[in-house]
Amino acid sequence: MRRVTLRVRPGAVEDVLDALLPRLPDGAHVRGDTLVLHARTAPLPDDLAVDGVVDITESDVPDDWRERRRLDGLGGVEVAGRIWLRSPDDPPPAPGLMDIVIERSAAFGTGAHPTTRMCLGFILGLEPRGAFSDLGCGAGALSIAAAKLGFAPVQAVDYDEHSVESARANARDNGVAVDANVLDLTRQAPPPARVFAANMPARVHRALQVPDVTEVIIVSGIRSPDDVTYEGWRRTDVLERDGWVAMLLERA
Ligand SMILES: C[S@@+](CC[C@H](N)C(=O)[O-])C[C@H]1O[C@@H](n2cnc3c(N)ncnc32)[C@H](O)[C@@H]1O
Repeated sequence: MRRVTLRVRPGAVEDVLDALLPRLPDGAHVRGDTLVLHARTAPLPDDLAVDGVVDITESDVPDDWRERRRLDGLGGVEVAGRIWLRSPDDPPPAPGLMDIVIERSAAFGTGAHPTTRMCLGFILGLEPRGAFSDLGCGAGALSIAAAKLGFAPVQAVDYDEHSVESARANARDNGVAVDANVLDLTRQAPPPARVFAANMPARVHRALQVPDVTEVIIVSGIRSPDDVTYEGWRRTDVLERDGWVAMLLERA
């Protein structure tokens, strides 16, 4: 199989996709400012150098996606030396690592994104203390980690019903109790908990109604610590990875 990687001018990914997708029977994967195309059923179009493409590289890769994933270093992600986050097709963890298995789906948070990993790192550093709410749960990786660490009850919410279904299924497959429900956090109050993980867009943070019982908020999904203001809260830790920020907040 042939793989073609297009590096795209920052901000031009959508335009390049619009121009190329009608001619790509197998679609394309977006990884930041890069588009990855695989030639499976038809030759790729000769002219991929549409406006916005900065350079094009080609390589031969295995036909089997599992093998490609392994060669790409995507066969599971170790987080903070304690969690092994993987898909069901990836190898199991080394002894001593907590295994979190997330089915490949359209939901966000199958492990590759730096915000998911930074949030997991913060969760690992907390003493499991009662209720935990995963706000903008995506595929449920943060909820599952919290439940495995001993937080209870764990609630997960997302405004996208496919994400909620995916979080439910993943929690069940990981053998943990997570109550996942559809909820739009710009309009409805979150399920109260002592610890919130809120990996979600800045506009949703700005609308978030934080109940009095909440003691810790893990904030991510933002590009700069100043993208959001939590009045009455202080930052006790701030991480930055690949242009994304995660913060640990406690009451001031
Ligand atoms: C960056 S993803 C985080 C997913 C997961 N928590 C993780 O860390 O991997 C952000 C999630 O927030 C959800 N979201 C966005 N706007 C929302 C809203 N208004 N109410 C609830 N969830 C929302 C998205 O559907 C998406 O699943």
